[in-house]
Amino acid sequence: MPSASQIKGTRATVSVQSGPRWVVPAKVAVFVLMLYPLARLIVLGMTGVNGGLSANPIEFITRSTGRWTLVYLCITLAITPVRRMTGITALARFRRMIGLYAFFFAVLHFTTYIWFDKWFDVAEMLKDIGKRPFITVGFAAFVLLIPLAVTSPKAMVRKLGRRWQTLHRAIYLIAALAILHFWWMKAGKHDFEQPKIYGAIVIALLGWRVIAWCRTRAARRRA
Ligand code: HEM
Repeated sequence: MPSASQIKGTRATVSVQSGPRWVVPAKVAVFVLMLYPLARLIVLGMTGVNGGLSANPIEFITRSTGRWTLVYLCITLAITPVRRMTGITALARFRRMIGLYAFFFAVLHFTTYIWFDKWFDVAEMLKDIGKRPFITVGFAAFVLLIPLAVTSPKAMVRKLGRRWQTLHRAIYLIAALAILHFWWMKAGKHDFEQPKIYGAIVIALLGWRVIAWCRTRAARRRA
């Protein structure tokens, strides 16, 4: 998912587009590295090492893919703050790829649920969405991710212009829904340790965005 500076067509865009030499090998490395959670599941499933996929493989795969979706969402959200704080503009070149990885893992997560948990029984799934609030918000987050993934190609960024930016702000709402999904899932056992950590990360990233936005507005007013 490209950055705001890529849309605006500023001079910064040119440097981001061409980028330093390390960008292409780094992107290849990140691409391969981000396949690790999937490779791990495949290896565990095939070899059974370290207890394999546990006594409940469906739960194991659902939880693993859900967790990695959340991790990749957080990394996507962190790109802009880190880019601005470090001045490494080329980081923007990684955003789309990582965002698409978040979507990919969300698809795996949802597929595991609808396939192995519900056996493609759509009526049963809809009943579950209506009945269990944690599934409702997880589903909402997933549905909201779809337009972001569809509009991630550069051609769509150019076509949508400013509307692209507005649409992609939904990533914050998606992250908030994902935290709620995780929180409510753990509510049964009152085990909020992990959701609290991820919640704090998302709040910090969102807070950074709000402060940056307020500063830009104040600077514009002064100008
Ligand atoms: C952006 C979308 C989503 C994100 C980020 C997400 C994230 C998560 C996370 C972090 C967990 C807990 C993993 C852990 O225990 O470590 C989880 C569990 C789960 N999610 Fe999602 N999820 C999403 C969408 C969905 C959707 C669409 C469904 C189904 C309609 C779903 C169903 C489940 C189920 C069934 C569990 C496991 C519950 C259990 O084992 O008791 N999630 N998800």
